[in-house]
Amino acid sequence: MSDAAWTAVDDYIVGHLLGTDPVLDAALAANEAGGLPAIDVSAAQGKMLHLLARMAGARRILEVGTLGGYSTIWLARALPEDGRLVTLELEPHHADVARGNIAAAGFADKVDVRVGPAIESLDAMITGGEGPFDFIFIDADKPSNVAYLRAAMALGRPGSTIIVDNVVREGGVLDADSDDDRIRGTRALFEAVAAEPRLNATAVQTVGAKKWDGFLLAVLGAAE
Ligand code: SAH
Ligand code: DHB
Ligand code: MG
Repeated sequence: MSDAAWTAVDDYIVGHLLGTDPVLDAALAANEAGGLPAIDVSAAQGKMLHLLARMAGARRILEVGTLGGYSTIWLARALPEDGRLVTLELEPHHADVARGNIAAAGFADKVDVRVGPAIESLDAMITGGEGPFDFIFIDADKPSNVAYLRAAMALGRPGSTIIVDNVVREGGVLDADSDDDRIRGTRALFEAVAAEPRLNATAVQTVGAKKWDGFLLAVLGAAE
């Protein structure tokens, strides 16, 4: 199987189970026009995040790494009427594009895009007593994944879902001697999750339009 076949199967999945989506197509077009990198989750992955958030009954969602708000919109679609989503983004230009896409999708009143280094935003949220969040999606700079995991645990509650994107990186995760900080960050994340009794976790590899990668999924348990 090649990347071309993986993409063809993604097209088959989207054609059968997702249908056309002018709102998200417009968001991707705005991202491209704004010069954002095309590193959003795929459509099939976005729908999976949406369904997982619904399965979790999520009313408060936290996202780390907004980009143009593509995954944000998928997640916001899972919220009930009184639901809220906070999404954290370092780059002001990414946040501007995202706010436009989120407003065009009809979620301006449910979604709060906060600009700055996510670790600072998260620390302020913990200090400010924000939360708890029912569902947390981590998809920003990979070297910070352990710090984001710790913050997610502090901002969650027993039963919260934590999902981390890009934990396989075409098998790069296996390279114990890597000098790539993203791989080192991902391996540190696996070590941290493995050592954490409050997390019940797995990771699932994916292939498709976004090549060979994967998600780590965890459910938070009670504090000791
Ligand atoms: N979740 C998005 C993709 C996010 S790409 C989607 O699937 O649609 C990763 C994003 O994380 C980029 O926009 C990048 O600017 C942002 N980022 C990188 N370092 C960050 C940091 N330290 N704090 C917050 N965001 C960061
Ligand atoms: C990159 C980041 C992502 O979140 C992603 O899904 C794919 C690629 C990157 O930084 O290269
Ligand atoms: Mg990602």
